[in-house]
Amino acid sequence: MDPTSEKVLNAELWEMHLTRQFGWTKKLRHQIYRKVNMKNQKKVLDVGCGIGLISREIFGMGVPEVHGIDLNPELIKKAKEKFPEGHFKIGNAEALPYEDDTFDCVTCHFVLMWVRNPYKAVSEMKRVVKPGGWIICASEPDYGAKIDYPDEFNAADATTRAIRNEGADPFFGRKLKAVMSSQGLKPKMGISADLWDDKTMRREFEHVWKFSEMTAKGTMMKNWAKSVRKRDEEALEQGTRITLLPLFWGIAKK
Ligand SMILES: C[S@@+](CC[C@H](N)C(=O)[O-])C[C@H]1O[C@@H](n2cnc3c(N)ncnc32)[C@H](O)[C@@H]1O
Repeated sequence: MDPTSEKVLNAELWEMHLTRQFGWTKKLRHQIYRKVNMKNQKKVLDVGCGIGLISREIFGMGVPEVHGIDLNPELIKKAKEKFPEGHFKIGNAEALPYEDDTFDCVTCHFVLMWVRNPYKAVSEMKRVVKPGGWIICASEPDYGAKIDYPDEFNAADATTRAIRNEGADPFFGRKLKAVMSSQGLKPKMGISADLWDDKTMRREFEHVWKFSEMTAKGTMMKNWAKSVRKRDEEALEQGTRITLLPLFWGIAKK
């Protein structure tokens, strides 16, 4: 077996990763929630809900009935533990186990890049939302447009390889509009590309360093992860480090 093709994300690593991601994508989500008047929705579905962080956030805004669905049973188990008021199911975004026209709003966050057939997933999201209801596809990154400086931090190849290795499309962001439009939607599109301040970078990098060191295979990769950390720390110290990952989003009414 090719060791480079083994997936490394287990439930614990997913939890760490999703919790971190939930933090730095918050501002974008709340901009979208305002556009779709989320707090006044009654019944919402969170597709690819993972450990239920987004579902719980939506419930916390006053939405009385929030459902979540994910392919990964271990993540659904965690979602149920974290958010017992949620209605969680194991299931596939490409064949949603709900009747037509069930929800006022159907949302997904950082999901379509992971789905084998995102066209089918959006078609299913459209099917289960009520006529006039909102479909939200939020935070779809495009690693082909990621910027890291100083240049020595440009690990674009390694990053895109690692993402593909886990089964996701690192360049999905740029395809989002085409995927939504192909399903007869007329999406309003946007990009969020925040430049993190030094404090945020340091906090986020702590997780990234830990993650890289945990997942690096073999002495060479472990040493590489350590050297990245050392160079990152030096650049942060010198105030020269920047990093930017554009996140695409699209919202549309059925
Ligand atoms: C990056 S995570 C995002 C989780 C959550 N939306 C969040 O933002 O915290 C992507 C999720 O999509 C789920 N996923 C991937 N393909 C799926 C599919 N076909 N159907 C349902 N869930 C899927 C994964 O199991 C994973 O939990």
